Amino acid sequence: MTEIFEAIKKSAIRIREAIEFDDTGYSEDQNATGDTQLKLDIKSDIIIEEEFRKIPSIKEIVSEEKNDKTPLHVEGHYLIGYDPLDGSSLIDVNLSVGSIFGIYEGGYAGKNLIASVYVVYGPRVELVIATDKVRMYRLNKSDEFVYLKDIVLNEKGKLNAPGSTQMCWEPKHKKMIDDIFADGYRLRYSGGMVPDLHQILLKGGGLFSYPSTSDAPKGKLRLIFEVFPFAFVYEKAGGGSVDGKNRILDLTPEHPHDTSPCFFGSNSEVQRVLKTYE
Ligand code: F6P
Repeated sequence: MTEIFEAIKKSAIRIREAIEFDDTGYSEDQNATGDTQLKLDIKSDIIIEEEFRKIPSIKEIVSEEKNDKTPLHVEGHYLIGYDPLDGSSLIDVNLSVGSIFGIYEGGYAGKNLIASVYVVYGPRVELVIATDKVRMYRLNKSDEFVYLKDIVLNEKGKLNAPGSTQMCWEPKHKKMIDDIFADGYRLRYSGGMVPDLHQILLKGGGLFSYPSTSDAPKGKLRLIFEVFPFAFVYEKAGGGSVDGKNRILDLTPEHPHDTSPCFFGSNSEVQRVLKTYE
């Protein structure tokens, strides 16, 4: 898989440059879930596909920006689900965004995920690779990703990142979030999944939630491109991820763009979610 990680690093360097200097405007197109695509969404997707096409071990890819799977190499082995530029609507206000990759074997189900990678484009560019452990790298002046440290979550954290619109939350969800704040947790939510989850990982723990809501009963975040890869990272960092009742990595989507309610956190907060939703 090293060649896949290297391709992701090359893509990240090219995408970082596009974020810094390209037009931040909208295109005329919509993606599979009906979001109007930024020119940067489309460019990031093209960059990643170009880099992945050079890797013979990749059998197929599926991007958040496309309707269907794209076959790459018949003799390949790995399947990759990715979101080229998550949270891209935050670029015009100059907040951090990210790319997310899930590497699967045999099918796009949680149990088939064997590695995941994400990149944070913030004041600095950081890359996190989860396999048996969760390793963090930072881009230096010579365009090399230098290993910084392993990421390990504490049993219990201090941050709370509650997603979606409060008026659409179920009463039990609202009560859980209010109770968490009453216990002294601090609000940390930018609206970018990658930096928000990265912050919780680096600050020792907490809870990120994107629940079932009255306007989106199946949540907003997509299983293959967003939810599975981060569930894998959180488990390997010593925390967990659930949809309220089930472990996220036990789920199997029917369609590439299926979404799920999701909660990511350190163990104490995940137990709290399971108790609320049981
Ligand atoms: O997937 C899109 C996304 O921008 C995520 O990065 C983020 O966590 C979420 O949507 C924010 O949604 P909301 O504004 O509804 O909380």
